[in-house]
This record gives sequence, structure tokens and C-alpha cells, in this order.
Amino acid sequence: MPLVNMTEMLIKAREGKYAVGAFNILDYNSMRVVVETAQELQSPVIVQTSEKTIRFWGLKPIVSWIKELTDNTTVPVAIHLDHCKDLSFIQNCIDAGWTSVMIDASSKPFEENIKLSQQVVKMAKLHEISVEAELGEIGGIEDDISINEESAHLAGVEQAKIFLDKVKVECFAPAIGTSHGIYKGEPNIAFDRLNEISQLSDTPLALHGGTGLSAEVFKKCISLGCSKINISTQLKYAFIDGFLHYYQSKPTEYNPLTILQAQYIALKQAVYENIILFGSNQKA
Ligand code: 13P
Repeated sequence: MPLVNMTEMLIKAREGKYAVGAFNILDYNSMRVVVETAQELQSPVIVQTSEKTIRFWGLKPIVSWIKELTDNTTVPVAIHLDHCKDLSFIQNCIDAGWTSVMIDASSKPFEENIKLSQQVVKMAKLHEISVEAELGEIGGIEDDISINEESAHLAGVEQAKIFLDKVKVECFAPAIGTSHGIYKGEPNIAFDRLNEISQLSDTPLALHGGTGLSAEVFKKCISLGCSKINISTQLKYAFIDGFLHYYQSKPTEYNPLTILQAQYIALKQAVYENIILFGSNQKA
């Protein structure tokens, strides 16, 4: 099946009260895990790429991997650019074949966030690319974007209303108290705020900072309109721990392919469990 954007899969998810996992891939093998697991579970899926990962591998290899991997899939797969502030980089991804992009101008003053997000919507519309934008600031470290606790702040309801009126995005990421990376304590999620924002429109909402949230938190956020859930750190851990556990148990083996296989299995377990948790299995 050809690649799709996020539009239809997220509308269906919001209506059906489940969420589509957006998994940050690291390399070909992790992309393969995401696509193959989605196919096995008959789930729509978002292959999410950070700017740093794209700069590491290059645009062309990533596009060729995703095209090759989705050649024989029957489930909807979108390839999405995660947090990006750089409009020319976003344009490069659009030109290279990405089907979805995120403009993260959340650190800019409100009016400028609106303006930049509108600009990206305009760029994307020419190619039927879906757009995600952020309001408020999500804390923690993702890629090279680091937001400390003092700067992180929730999205305001009034601002969200204005933003959604002025910027026609397919997915809206309001900061609601989650953060990227490993949670130090119990995350303090502003469910009331999420509820108020969710009632402003039918626009599917993105939940960032998925790693470390409980099944109860996921369920509640999904019931309040979160239709896209981002998972990155958990996959980084699975990738490295998959290697370490294998190496520690067989330190003299030195067989790269079996190590890669161990990483594949660890990643697969994480992706599989999340798809089931988000309820998108059998929804392709
Ligand atoms: P985690 O790294 O906490 O899973 O967050 C991922 C994310 O929101 C990517 O944008």
C-alpha cells in the first residue's frame, strides 16, 4: 500500500476512541519492526523520524527504506517528521517524500507560533501532507530540543481556541503536563485542561512524552481525544538494552547478526505492547 498522511487514520482513531502509535525510529531495523508489527496486528501506524535521525542517515535512504518496507503492506503507514523548527528542513522532507510533518514553534511568542504554523500548513497543502503543531511547551529532552521545567508550560484554553481557528492542522499537540524522556516522579497530567481543549474542536490531539505513562493515563487521554501517541525514549532503551542483555549473556560470541536480532526482538515487544495498549490493533 502506498504511504498515507495522518489525516484519515487520526480522524478514525478519534471517532473510534483509540490512538495510533507514532514510534520514533532509529535506523532501518527499527523502522522494519514498526512496519512489520503494525502489519501483524492489522494496525495503522506512524513511523516518526526526528530531525537528528534524518540528518544522521540522510533523506534519501530513509525514504527508500520506508518505500521498500511498505511495498507489500496492507495497513496504512504514515512517515512523519517529529518536532521541527526549521521551515527549510520541513520543505526538504516534504520534497523527499514525507507524508506528514510537525512544526514546533511552541517556544516562539504566540502570534509567531501561529504565523509559522500557518506557513507550514500552506507548504504542506500543495502536497496533501498532514501537519501537526504544538502549543504550550512540552518539557524534557527530545532530539536537540531541551525544555527545562521552568520553561515548560501548559497550553491555555483560550489560546488553543484561537490557534485552532487560525491554523488548520490535522493534529494538535497541546502541552498538558507530559514530558519527553524518563519521568523523575509521577507525571502531573492536566486532564481537565485536556478535556477543555478537546471540546474546542474535533481535531485529533497528539500526546507527547508517551514513555513511562501508565495504561490508565493512556486510556484517560485517549478517551479525552488523544488520537496519536508518541513513543521515543522507550525504543531507545529497547535498542540499547537489547544489545547489552545479549552481549552480557554471551560476551564471547561476537556475532553482529544475532545481536541485531536480539535488538529487533526487544524493539518488537515494545511496539507490540503499545499498539495493543492504544487499541489500534485490527483497526487498519
Ligand atoms: P518519549 O521520548 O517520552 O517517549 O516522547 C516521545 C515524543 O513525544 C516525541 O515527540
